[in-house]
Amino acid sequence: MKTIMILGASILQLPAIEKALTMGLKVVVVDMNPNAVGMKLPRVISEVVSTIDIPAVVAVAIKHSIDGVMTLASDMPMRTVAAVAKELGLVGITDDTALKATNKAIMRQALKDAGVPVPMFFKVSSKDEYNAAVSNFAVPFIVKPADNSGSRGIFKIADLSVHKQIEEAYSYSKQYSRNGDVVVEEYMSGSEVSVETLTVDGECHVIQITDKITTGAPHFVEMGHTQPTRLPGNISTRIAEVAKAANKAIGITNGPSHTEIIVTSEGPKIVEIGARLGGDCITTHLVPLSTGVDMVESCIKIALGKEPDIEAKFCKGSAIRYFDQQAGIVEAINGIEKAKAINGIYQISIVHGVGETVTEIDSSTARMGFVIAQGNNAEEASDIAEEAKDSLNIVIGTK
Ligand SMILES: Nc1ncnc2c1ncn2[C@@H]1O[C@H](COP(=O)(O)OP(=O)(O)O)[C@@H](O)[C@H]1O
Ligand SMILES: [Mg+2]
Repeated sequence: MKTIMILGASILQLPAIEKALTMGLKVVVVDMNPNAVGMKLPRVISEVVSTIDIPAVVAVAIKHSIDGVMTLASDMPMRTVAAVAKELGLVGITDDTALKATNKAIMRQALKDAGVPVPMFFKVSSKDEYNAAVSNFAVPFIVKPADNSGSRGIFKIADLSVHKQIEEAYSYSKQYSRNGDVVVEEYMSGSEVSVETLTVDGECHVIQITDKITTGAPHFVEMGHTQPTRLPGNISTRIAEVAKAANKAIGITNGPSHTEIIVTSEGPKIVEIGARLGGDCITTHLVPLSTGVDMVESCIKIALGKEPDIEAKFCKGSAIRYFDQQAGIVEAINGIEKAKAINGIYQISIVHGVGETVTEIDSSTARMGFVIAQGNNAEEASDIAEEAKDSLNIVIGTK
């Protein structure tokens, strides 16, 4: 029996842990939180170790003689995945790829060097460097931490005359930067998509392209995803080419990637690329609903050095929509059962429910819940998801 090690045991990793169990594998799960949901599943071998403690995770991998290592949709353990793969000679990304996939400054440079379209950018490590970088830009432009995710610390500067905003953007963004570096970059205007790929023995396959809805400025939190993209064929072809080039540029030879792209007037440019599956239910729910491809199973197989089944089984539409919310205490969420009964609704989930304090949506973890729909095409799935979302009556009281 083969052994797979999954880094992280939170609800985000559950689809991978559950899939590995149903595949009959021996499953080792690593998380610093002994109470994480995935640690408690029957047949799971739990190891209470931080997923970013590389030597400790390598030791666990050796102890269990694992045959493969993966994490689902999280950037944090990426470097650990690389280190374990290297130490045990398993399929996976290299340290270099892990760095290029998680540090936005290094990523942008690697993409630029390979001729992959990116916005103009500057990495800044101090206030002086920041001020110097800012002088190169006309408004609007973006300030973001070099190494965070979930839209934490993203800021759009819209007016150069508001000096306070420029000052505040730096400190706002820097507080979310783990290594202290901040990236200042050109604002790209246009439709935003993500590209989900699986690379097998050096060949990158585009599995699906997803249209995105975000809150927009200042924080750009994703509020909805729809598959397949409704952009015209010539543009989606170009998007797929850019995503494949990005995979090559950062050196992914086996495994998944999630590439975010904005289609500017100069063509598609990269927002970022992750050497992992896309989150927000994109790869765990939406891709299976729109194509029949099981990306999670495929990733487990790739990690174990087996051939994945990546052929589309059908062509339908799928969509996720996050609830609208404002800051306050959730008093009631009415109409869930009725919304669930709408034809095409696949799932409704509450992340922050009655009694919990919620904030405005300033990062993806703030979002209180979502609906997922399937339709015959993207438009239909989107309409169904919107209808279900709008039919809910969410009462949020002020504090
Ligand atoms: N240069 C940019 N131009 C326009 N929008 C951007 C730019 N950079 C980021 N964004 C917006 O902010 C969102 C989050 O930025 P991203 O770099 O993907 O950070 P995270 O790792 O937190 O997801 C993007 O999905 C996009 O909507
Ligand atoms: Mg992103």
